[in-house]
Amino acid sequence: MKSEEVIDMKLYIEKDYEQMSKLAAKLIADKVHSKENCVLGLATGSTPIGTYKELIKQYQAGTLSFAKVKTVNLDEYYGLEPEHEQSYAYFMRDNLFNHIDLPQDAFRLPSGTAKNIEEECKDYEKHIEALGGVDLQLLGIGHNGHIGFNEPAASFALYTHQTYLDERTIEANTRFFASKDEVPTQAITMGIGTIMKAGEIILLASGKDKADIIQRLLEGDTVNPMLPASILKLHPHVHVIVDEAAASLLKSCCKSSTCHLH
Ligand code: F6R
Repeated sequence: MKSEEVIDMKLYIEKDYEQMSKLAAKLIADKVHSKENCVLGLATGSTPIGTYKELIKQYQAGTLSFAKVKTVNLDEYYGLEPEHEQSYAYFMRDNLFNHIDLPQDAFRLPSGTAKNIEEECKDYEKHIEALGGVDLQLLGIGHNGHIGFNEPAASFALYTHQTYLDERTIEANTRFFASKDEVPTQAITMGIGTIMKAGEIILLASGKDKADIIQRLLEGDTVNPMLPASILKLHPHVHVIVDEAAASLLKSCCKSSTCHLH
C-alpha cells in the first residue's frame, strides 16, 4: 500500500501538542455525546495526558459527562499492583478517573497480578465483548511502531495476551521509574485483533522523536507485523492526529484533505 492510498487513515497535522490534544478530546467528546453507553478504549503514556486534561476541563465546565460511559484500557505492566504508582491503573486514576464522573465500576484494565494470567486475558476479551465492543479506541505509538504492547514480531497477536517488552520500550519507559532495572519486562496487552475490532480509532503522536515512526507508518508501503501500527491501514475508520514536529519527516502530507500545513 503506497502512502497515497492511505485514505482511510485520516491524517490531521496540528500545530502543537495542545492543539493535537484538543482535537482528540473533541472527537472523544463527540463520540460520548452521540453514542449512549459508549465504550472507550484508553491508553496511557505521555501522549494522551493532554487529551485527558481537555476531557477533564469539559467535565468541569459541565459540557461532558462520563456517567454512562464504560472504559477499557489497552494494557498493564505484569507484576504491578493497581496501587503501584507506576501501574497503568494508578496512571488512569491520577490522570483521568479521579477527576470525572465515571462510575467506580465502569472502568477496567487488564490485571498485572492475576493468579492465572491466561484466564485473565480470556476474561478481558469476554468483558469487552459483553460491553458490546469498543466504540472508540485511543492509541499512542511506540518508537518501534508498537500499539498497546504489541511489539514488532513475526506475526500479529490476535487477543489479549502476556508479552515481553522490547528493549526500546523498556528504555523509553525508564523515564517513569527510578532506574531501568525497575521497569517491568512484561505486560498484559490487548492484541492487535482486539484493537482492530474497535469501531473507530484515534492514533496520537507528538514530538520530533516520533517523526521517524510516523513517516514509516504513513509512507511505508506494507502492512507488516514488524511495524505493528501498520495494521491500522486495514481498519476502515482511523484518525491519525499528529503535531507538526511528529509530521516533520512526511513528504506527502498534502495528500490529506485535512492537512493544515499546505
Ligand atoms: C500505553 C501504550 C503504549 C504507548 C506508547 C507511546 O498504554 O499502550 O503503546 O501508547 O508506548 O507512549 P508515549 O505516549 O509515552 O510516547
